[in-house]
Amino acid sequence: MSLLNIVILAAGKGTRMYSDKPKVLHALAGKPMVQHVLDCASLLTPQQVCVVYGHGGEAVPLALQEYAAKFVIQEPQLGTGHAVQQALPHLQDGSRTLVLYGDVPLIQHSTLHQMQQAGEGLVLLTVNLDNPAGYGRIVRNVQGDVLCIVEEKDATPEQREICEVNTGILLAPTGEMRAWLGKLGNNNAQGEYYLTDIVAMAVQDGIAVHTVQPSQKWEVEGINNKVQLATLERIWQQTVANRLMIQGVTLADPARIDVRGNLACGRDVEIDVGCIFEGEVSLGDRVRVGAYTVMRNTTIAQGTQIAPYSHIDASEVGANCHIGPYARLRPGSKLHDDAHVGNFVEIKNSEIGQGSKANHLSYIGDSTVGSRVNIGAGTITCNYDGANKFRTIIEDDAFIGSDTQLVAPVTVGKGATIGAGSTITTNAPAGELTLSRGRQTTIPGWQRPQKGKK
Ligand code: UD1
Ligand code: MG
Repeated sequence: MSLLNIVILAAGKGTRMYSDKPKVLHALAGKPMVQHVLDCASLLTPQQVCVVYGHGGEAVPLALQEYAAKFVIQEPQLGTGHAVQQALPHLQDGSRTLVLYGDVPLIQHSTLHQMQQAGEGLVLLTVNLDNPAGYGRIVRNVQGDVLCIVEEKDATPEQREICEVNTGILLAPTGEMRAWLGKLGNNNAQGEYYLTDIVAMAVQDGIAVHTVQPSQKWEVEGINNKVQLATLERIWQQTVANRLMIQGVTLADPARIDVRGNLACGRDVEIDVGCIFEGEVSLGDRVRVGAYTVMRNTTIAQGTQIAPYSHIDASEVGANCHIGPYARLRPGSKLHDDAHVGNFVEIKNSEIGQGSKANHLSYIGDSTVGSRVNIGAGTITCNYDGANKFRTIIEDDAFIGSDTQLVAPVTVGKGATIGAGSTITTNAPAGELTLSRGRQTTIPGWQRPQKGKK
């Protein structure tokens, strides 16, 4: 198998997005369109990837810094053939070059692999459309061999009847393509250098032209405006939802889940409506996710129940925990098995030990909480002095009374009890009751102020 070079065309302006952001940086499933293309391209282990960009200045290369790709500017944009010409200095003769589009985000590896298997010569990815308007048509002879591609604006009325269209994606022998691109002219209806003109040149040179069709039509759908973007987003989400259901996941409504990354699920997972999963999320066996929960880069172990409207970000949750409703786990939260985190509880950069509970209205930040601890309603760890962060340590079996402030750095010893309403500023000894509270007094005969009579 010959070496593979890949050129991704991404210089188009995207006028119809009405945006200051280059079109290919608009996100689909939480990721810039062109990144979908780059990620798919990398599955083919190419020797070279070249991104041709134009509009939006350096925004495109800047957004794609982490990719080992060459970035070439195309300025001005004189057509798809001209765009590929800009990449030629980076392409290796003896390789094959695959041309992809930054605004055709959902092309799949299997289809590209099929193109690679289609034979030597020029391989075109084509599709049959009921309404081919706007696309380049695939012109064949009576034997069915491809002769050329004709752009709609240059086509005769008979050619416009052809329903097999050019998706734009093609695979070409690089050396030959270099020669063909050198001969391109722009004497056509749009005054552009058409990449598609290389097809007739290949035929003339006796190079075989093969065609491959994508497994699903949505793979070759291009994005020009926000309606197309949203439509493709839904198609993709439906595809992901179907994949999850086929694996056995129960979705309350497959039309109301959004996966912006990868969601891995064990057996008998149930997900209610309106949930969003971002980045890498993993749900263990029997996990149930309540409605309108948002999760990012998080691992949830088996049997854990998440009640509605919970937010879980960059956290690790053990088995058989209870979370929410309305719980918020911020980055660096680690819950051990059987922990409970209830409504309006925020946890950040903290470890909650096995079987410990913070069920109501609390903030636990920069803390280490042992096992079987009970944290009463309204407990606040005061972890920040305005400049520095400090840790709170609550040892096993401690009981923190409601409405307690733990002013860090501070340690509550093993089995200690903190009386409700306390402000704890120094370590509370193990096994003892500690409280800080004005003594309760009654003022005899005290009267509430009265409103003045009108
Ligand atoms: C092109 C094809 C057409 C095909 C259609 C599929 C040509 C001449 N025509 O038409 O056969 O049916 O795509 O959608 O190739 N681009 C650049 N630089 C340029 C021009 C375009 O990078 O100078 C990029 C655009 O950003 C876009 C892609 O190339 O991603 C296609 O450009 P577009 O103008 O949409 O192509 P069409 O004229 O629609
Ligand atoms: Mg065009």
